[in-house]
Amino acid sequence: MTNERKDDRLWGGRFDREPNAQFDAFQRSLAFDHRLLPYEIAVDRAWAKALEPVGIFTASEVKQTLAALDKIAERAKADSAWFEKTAAGAEDVHHFVEKALVEELGPLGWKLHTGRSRNELVAADFRLFVINAAAEIQRGLEALLNAFLQQAKSNLNVPMPGMTHLQHAQPILLSHFLLAHAEAFTRDVTRLQHAAASADACPMGSGALAGNSFAIDRHAIARELGFSRITANSLDAVSDRDFALDYLFVLTGIATHLSRLAEDFVLFASQEFSYVILPDEYSTGSSLMPQKKNPDAWELIRGKSGRITGALVALLTTLKGLPTGYQRDLQEDKEALFAAHDQVADMLAVATGALGSTKFNPDRLRAAASNPALLATEAADYLVRKGLPFRQAHDLVGKVLREAEKQNVAWTALPIDALKAISSALEAGFAKSFSVEEALAAKKVPGGTAPESVRAAIADLETRLNKKVSKTGAKP
Ligand code: ARG
Repeated sequence: MTNERKDDRLWGGRFDREPNAQFDAFQRSLAFDHRLLPYEIAVDRAWAKALEPVGIFTASEVKQTLAALDKIAERAKADSAWFEKTAAGAEDVHHFVEKALVEELGPLGWKLHTGRSRNELVAADFRLFVINAAAEIQRGLEALLNAFLQQAKSNLNVPMPGMTHLQHAQPILLSHFLLAHAEAFTRDVTRLQHAAASADACPMGSGALAGNSFAIDRHAIARELGFSRITANSLDAVSDRDFALDYLFVLTGIATHLSRLAEDFVLFASQEFSYVILPDEYSTGSSLMPQKKNPDAWELIRGKSGRITGALVALLTTLKGLPTGYQRDLQEDKEALFAAHDQVADMLAVATGALGSTKFNPDRLRAAASNPALLATEAADYLVRKGLPFRQAHDLVGKVLREAEKQNVAWTALPIDALKAISSALEAGFAKSFSVEEALAAKKVPGGTAPESVRAAIADLETRLNKKVSKTGAKP
């Protein structure tokens, strides 16, 4: 047997001619999958250890291979000239490590790939990436949730008009509004944990599609890598990207929630609302109009959310119609997911900073909430308590509002004879018995906007936030 190989490609043996240069560049993925290098090295280490009990590696070969892998990991970080040199001609991150191993160990470097395929390697690396990425985004969400909590606490008792159909509806507390957004992000934390759990299965030992013929200990490899289980079917394991779809769906959900939050703040910063004062640190000016302060942080967050949805749709489209087993189309899974992850991490950080440094305008919020029209439902409820069926009460208050509109006064300022002319059920003092404070205090069900309910909600969110623990089980 000979130790000679005519080149350092992974698959040159059965080919007579070189690949077309443009196609060769087209099929390479190292330019983006080098990001998987830390996970590739971790999987390689686990694989090297697993090859000893099945008689492929001696103890000394394992030792040499592990030392070489550590050296490669170090050098890739510290020595960019070496990285560029080794990367030249490497098809992907898997090929890169094999080239570097051979450079380091000679022919021993060719042994590590015994019984395994890049199809399972890329699935293992990518799963580890997603698990760690989800933990990073969870930390970003937790920071954002803390910013919501801080704002909710420091603005307690500031009323604002709650809206439906973007029309003033009923008074609510500003803190209640803030906690409404926070609640959506707590669901994202739960979904992230679900996506991480879906990635948490080790495909190593699946081979290219059929499994492993060296009786490799799949459970030992999974344990070594921090996975809590192994994949169930080798053919599925090399072509399953549901964990990536799950993760992209969660990112899309987060981006959508951020975009809706952004829309509220863009509106609230407009002169028509003037509910918030934009922080200088998160705003920009106009090159033409000296007076402008624009909510670009929120606008960009809203704008970028489209890309995240795009990444999810891109992967769904790539997967649709793939036959069973690994197909090279799957290489397209990484770029969009990496980009979506990076964008959402940035969007979360900017949203956290912008939210944390926003000043609310309590006078303006209180004034807007004090429009007596917002108390019309309280008036109907009052009449219900006096024994009127709700539909009749609703009708009566409607008539009061119409009369007030005719007289061009607030309905609470209608004189008693005007009220009596509408219905004898309306007593003197009726219009004076309502206030924003009472309207708020009445909503004291759990989850309502009464100050005591909102205080309880703040405490509850704090408890839930302290209970959530990031899943960082997988290495590295
Ligand atoms: N670069 C490939 C990917 O990202 C790795 C797997 C290649 N497998 C193959 N049979 N060509 O999917």
